[in-house]
Amino acid sequence: MKTFILLLALLVFVSTAQAQQIGLIANTDGRKTIALDGEWQTIIDPYESGFYDYRYQESANGYFKNAKPKSQSDLIEYDFDKSSPLKVPGDWNTQSDKLFFYEGTIWYKRSFDYQRRPNTRLFVYFGAANYRADVYLNGEKLGHHVGGFTPFNFEITKLVRDAGNFLIVKVDNRRWRDAVPTMMTDWWNYGGLTRQVKLVETPATFVHDYFIQLQKGSRDRIGGWVKLAGEKLTQRVTISIPEAGISKSFTTDANGFAAIDFNAELSLWSPENPKLYDVAIEAETDQVRDQIGFRSIETRGTEILLNGRPIFLRGVCIHEEAPLRGGRAYSREDALTLLGWAKELGANFVRLAHYPHNEFMIREADRMGIMVWSEIPVYWTILWDNPATLENARKQLSEMITRDKNRASVVIWSVANETPLSEARLSFLKDLVSHARSLDSTRLLSAAMERHYIDATTQMIDDPLGEFLDVLGCNEYVGWYDGLPAKADGLEWKSKYQKPLIMSEFGGDALSGHHGEVLTRWTEEYQEDLYKHQLAMLKRIPFLRGTAPWILMDFRSPRRPLPEIQDYWNRKGLVSNRGEKKKAFYVMQQWYRELQQSQK
Ligand code: GCU
Repeated sequence: MKTFILLLALLVFVSTAQAQQIGLIANTDGRKTIALDGEWQTIIDPYESGFYDYRYQESANGYFKNAKPKSQSDLIEYDFDKSSPLKVPGDWNTQSDKLFFYEGTIWYKRSFDYQRRPNTRLFVYFGAANYRADVYLNGEKLGHHVGGFTPFNFEITKLVRDAGNFLIVKVDNRRWRDAVPTMMTDWWNYGGLTRQVKLVETPATFVHDYFIQLQKGSRDRIGGWVKLAGEKLTQRVTISIPEAGISKSFTTDANGFAAIDFNAELSLWSPENPKLYDVAIEAETDQVRDQIGFRSIETRGTEILLNGRPIFLRGVCIHEEAPLRGGRAYSREDALTLLGWAKELGANFVRLAHYPHNEFMIREADRMGIMVWSEIPVYWTILWDNPATLENARKQLSEMITRDKNRASVVIWSVANETPLSEARLSFLKDLVSHARSLDSTRLLSAAMERHYIDATTQMIDDPLGEFLDVLGCNEYVGWYDGLPAKADGLEWKSKYQKPLIMSEFGGDALSGHHGEVLTRWTEEYQEDLYKHQLAMLKRIPFLRGTAPWILMDFRSPRRPLPEIQDYWNRKGLVSNRGEKKKAFYVMQQWYRELQQSQK
C-alpha cells in the first residue's frame, strides 16, 4: 500500500512537472543565462535500448537515470562518463566519420551546478534539436519536442539542485512519413543538439512574450501586446524607446496580457538604413531589453512596398550549411560569413531555405539591413490528410513566428516548398496561412508554388494556393532539369493573379574550378551561361518583384552521390563550400548592381 501511494505521488509529481511547462520564452537575450556549450557525454543507441525495454515498452529505468553501479554485482550496461563526447552546439554527422550517415538516437548528458536565487525560476532553452528530443533532468522527464529547426524550453525550477544536476537529452533524427519534413529532402539530415542550449533565469513573474511592431499598413502607429507569466499577473508595464522619446504604460489583465497601441515617430528600418532601437519592456517584477527595427511591408497589386515605396527583392537562397567547415551552421560567425557573401552579391534579401535558421542569422540580417523570407519545412510530399502532421506543421509555424516576430528583417513567412497540387494539400496549406495570419497580421505570406506549361513556350502560375497568399513564389530550373540554358530565351510567364512574384529558385550545378565549354554540364561556364539566359528571361516578366537564385553556397545532400563532381554536395552554389566564387556569381552581382543603381 505504502509503495503504491509513493508511486502515485511520484506519478502526480512527474505529470504536473511536465504539464506545468509554459510556451516558448520569446527573448532570452538580456536575461541571466548560462550556455551549456562544449562537450557533452553521449551514447549512440541505434536500437533505443536506453528508452525501451526488450518488450518495446518505454522503460522507467532508461539511460535518463544516469545510473551507476552501487556494488560490484550491480548490473548497469551503460556509462555516460566513459562514453565519447560530442560538441554542443553541433550536428553529430560532421564530428565523427562513423556518424556521417547516422540516422537514429544519440543520448546526450551534461552535468552542471546552479545556485538558484530566491524568487526566481529556471528554464532550460534549446535553440533547436534535430528531429525529436526527449528531455530529462536528474532522472525526471521534462517533456519532448518534435521539429528540428525551432526553439523550445522546459521549466526546471522545482527539479534543479544546487550541485550535481544531470541534464539528459535523447535526440532522434530518423525521418518519418508523417513528419515535417517527411522522408525525402535535398539537404543533409544533420542530427543532434544543433544549436545552443542554455539555462535561463527569470523572476517568479516575468515578461514571457511580447509583440512590438508597426501596425499593418501604418508607418507611425505601434501595435502589439505584452504577456506576463507567473503569479502576479496584473501589473503596470511600461514600453520605452528612449531614443524616440517614447514611454507608454499599460496594465496587464488577470491573464497577464496587455494590448499595446500608440503613436511613434521613428526612423524606419530598411536595407539602406537598418535602424534598430533599444526597447525596454518594464514590468513591476521584471524587465526585458531588445533591439527592434520598425518598418511596414505590404503589397499593392503586383508591387511590394517597403515603408510605402515599391521595392525589388534582390535575393539569394541560403541553406544552414556552415561555410568553409561544412555541417549545420549555428554561430554568429557562420551568419556573418554567409550574409557577408550575400551582401557582396548585391543582395538586400535572403530566402532562408527550407526551415527556420538559427537566431544569429535573423539578428545579423536585422543589423545588416537584409530582408528575410523564413519558412517551415513543409517540403515536397507531406502527408496532407494526416491531422497529426498538420498539428506538427502548425506548431513549427507558431514557434518560428514566436521567436522572430519582433525582427524587422523578416518580411515574409513561407508555408511550403514545391508541394504537389491536391484538395488535401490546399486545405492543409490554407490552414497554415490563416494560422500564420492569426499570429502575425503585419507580414506577407508566401510559398514556393507549382507552375506549369500551358504551351511549349508559356509558363502559367495558377496554383490555387496563390489566391490565399500575398506574394507568389515559384521555383524553376529552365536550363538545368528543364532543357538547356537557351530554352529560357523563348519563354514567357503568365499569372492568374494580380500579385507580385518572387522567383524563389533558379540555377544549375557547377563544380568550382571545373572549366570547359558552355554546354558541358558541371562546368562554371555552363552555370555562367545558364544565368545569363535566366536573367534575360526574368527581366521580361512584368510582375516579377524579386529573385532568389538557388543557391548562395554548395550544401550537402544525400541525393547527390556523383563521384568527383558532387560527392554528396549539391553544387548549385554561386560560391563553393570552400568560399570560392564561381563565374555565375559575377553575372548575378552585375545585375544586382544595376538594379541597385536604378532604384536609387
Ligand atoms: C528544388 C528544391 C531544393 C533543391 C533544388 C535542387 O527545387 O526546392 O530543395 O535543392 O531543387 O534540385 O537543387
